[in-house]
Amino acid sequence: MLDNLEYISRFDRSGMLDTISKLPEQIEQALEICRDIEVEAGEIENILISGMGGSAISGDIIREWLRDRADIPVHVNRDYNLPKWADEKTFAIFLSYSGNTEETLYSFREALKRNIPSVAISSGGKLEEESREKNIPHIKIPSGYQPRAATPFLLFPSIKVLEKIELISNVDGEISETIDVCRGIRDENRKETPSESNQAKNIALKSKDTLIHIYGWRYFIPIAKRWRTQINENSKMIARYDEVPECNHNDIVGWSRRCELTEKSTCILLRDSHEPVRIKERYNFMKEIFESAGATVVEVNSKGENLLARQLSLMYVGDFVSCYLAILNEEDPTPVDVISKLKQKLASI
Ligand code: F6R
Repeated sequence: MLDNLEYISRFDRSGMLDTISKLPEQIEQALEICRDIEVEAGEIENILISGMGGSAISGDIIREWLRDRADIPVHVNRDYNLPKWADEKTFAIFLSYSGNTEETLYSFREALKRNIPSVAISSGGKLEEESREKNIPHIKIPSGYQPRAATPFLLFPSIKVLEKIELISNVDGEISETIDVCRGIRDENRKETPSESNQAKNIALKSKDTLIHIYGWRYFIPIAKRWRTQINENSKMIARYDEVPECNHNDIVGWSRRCELTEKSTCILLRDSHEPVRIKERYNFMKEIFESAGATVVEVNSKGENLLARQLSLMYVGDFVSCYLAILNEEDPTPVDVISKLKQKLASI
């Protein structure tokens, strides 16, 4: 079924697979958009990235990417308010693809009240309007995407802003490797590539009608979360993710009792060539217990050398998997009616 393009387009009516296939080009376009961005930050003590869902995930990726690199902490805020410690010594980035997400707007307004130096990124909406009114630098990104299919437009301008305020030095080389690696992933996983050599199609076929659990280590915890959210929103399935090594102190006990649910599970282990030996050992142990509980285990290896490329390589495979799962579920990956319904309901209050 996944090799029949006509069958795929019967369900992928809004073209999510074509959109995600353009991720490498979206990165290039995103860099172009923020080429001349002017931002300033005085003496800052921390970074706060505020947003929700498909917009906020870019903040998580950045936080872990900079874990061993930034001299000051990077926090991600997913709420209406801001943590008490956020003040003029904070530098904030507000991410909302639509520009109309209420949690992000409330936290943005609070940042203005607290005089927190800020930058906003959106395709329009109130976030753009209010940034312009208050003279807050705003990066306008292209409209017409689902937020989760516009990750490069939220992630790369944020990275460039952090470069501009000198939190990090020039990352052009890393970005260019990331684009190359993503092109390779795209070629391997796009819908035209047949199942025999298409990793994402294979993972989708193995995990259809199962409960999917995704496990990521340190820099890849946000990537495990992204897999889960893409499976939720694109495939219309529940799924869960967990973090290594934390899950070795709780989750693994649940796997020591084989039952119908463990037998109907797929465990996806996000693996990386730079894993320390102790993390490798933990993964090996987990693989054994998952298999003894009757689960199917799938390992996905990162590609590339630099960390950003490795993070995005794993993210990109998951994006494809979630779309193929949608097709197998006979669902259109694009609409997220439940989210829209809730947003409308809240807007009317
Ligand atoms: C929809 C999606 C959602 C949105 C979230 C916040 O594709 O991924 O998780 O990202 O509802 O909306 P925005 O991103 O417009 O602020």
